Amino acid sequence: MRHLTRAEDITKDFFSRIYEDSLEYERALEKGIKKFQDLRGKCIVNLFFEPSTRTRSSFEKAGKYLSADVINISESASSVKKGETLIDTLKTLDSMYPDIIVLRHPCEGVCEVAKRHVKASIVNAGDGRHQHPTQALLDAITLLKEFGSLESANITIVGDIANSRVARSQSVLFRMLGANVFVYAPPTMLPRNCEVLGVKVLSSFEEVFEITDILVLLRIQLERQNAKKVFPSLKEYSSLFGLDGEKLKRFKKRIAILHPGPYNRGVELNWQVLEKGRQLIFTQVKTGIAVRMAVLKNLIFL
Ligand code: NCD
Repeated sequence: MRHLTRAEDITKDFFSRIYEDSLEYERALEKGIKKFQDLRGKCIVNLFFEPSTRTRSSFEKAGKYLSADVINISESASSVKKGETLIDTLKTLDSMYPDIIVLRHPCEGVCEVAKRHVKASIVNAGDGRHQHPTQALLDAITLLKEFGSLESANITIVGDIANSRVARSQSVLFRMLGANVFVYAPPTMLPRNCEVLGVKVLSSFEEVFEITDILVLLRIQLERQNAKKVFPSLKEYSSLFGLDGEKLKRFKKRIAILHPGPYNRGVELNWQVLEKGRQLIFTQVKTGIAVRMAVLKNLIFL
């Protein structure tokens, strides 16, 4: 496997390698070992055209912990600002002998195009509403560390499904691992073709309480909602679709809670969820480093 641009690229075999390697890296990181020689002499370019805290720093640290040379470029500091096309920028960076280009961009499908123009491997770090495969990988591995298996687990994703690249990648990978995936959102935040994602749409929080083992909360992607108003007010959204201490008590089980971040306190979750819930949000961030180390290594050496 040369590129990782969609969750559909992840075979069971590739997933197992990432899982095993990430566990090994994580064990070492937990012991304070933060230098590995695996990517010594290799070069990674992180090219980000959208804001990012977690994903960008996670790829940067992953490359550096593995001793690769890492170049970080953001849109505001790139020649795209001077009128160069994305493809020309990619070709320019590709001429500097990088092994991997990690790309985040607001346009869906941009990584598929990028693959055709460069020699380096392309890793999709989020393309518009389309996909975010390394987020799905780190979420799945966070859950496997907690539960051992996802076979027949009921995973419910709540929030702005229509605009979420995370939900799109998760639904593919979680189902590959044997989970049942459900979604719950205002109808205006559901994609028209929900069935093709292989997920089942729930119609009330009562149903969510009843069946859920694992809950994934999503941020409202205001930056992708054009001018259309898809909910009357944030207050109404958070009371109907946000998670708080009262709703937490109504689940049949002590559910595990994931959020890819950034989370908005008081909207999709509140302080009670963060302080009293079985939330794995910071475990996701930790796992993300080791998973991205494993992804970079395997794309270069597999
Ligand atoms: C997500 C993203 O950028 O798609 N965040 C992330 O990568 N950790 C989700 C979001 O921005 O809401």
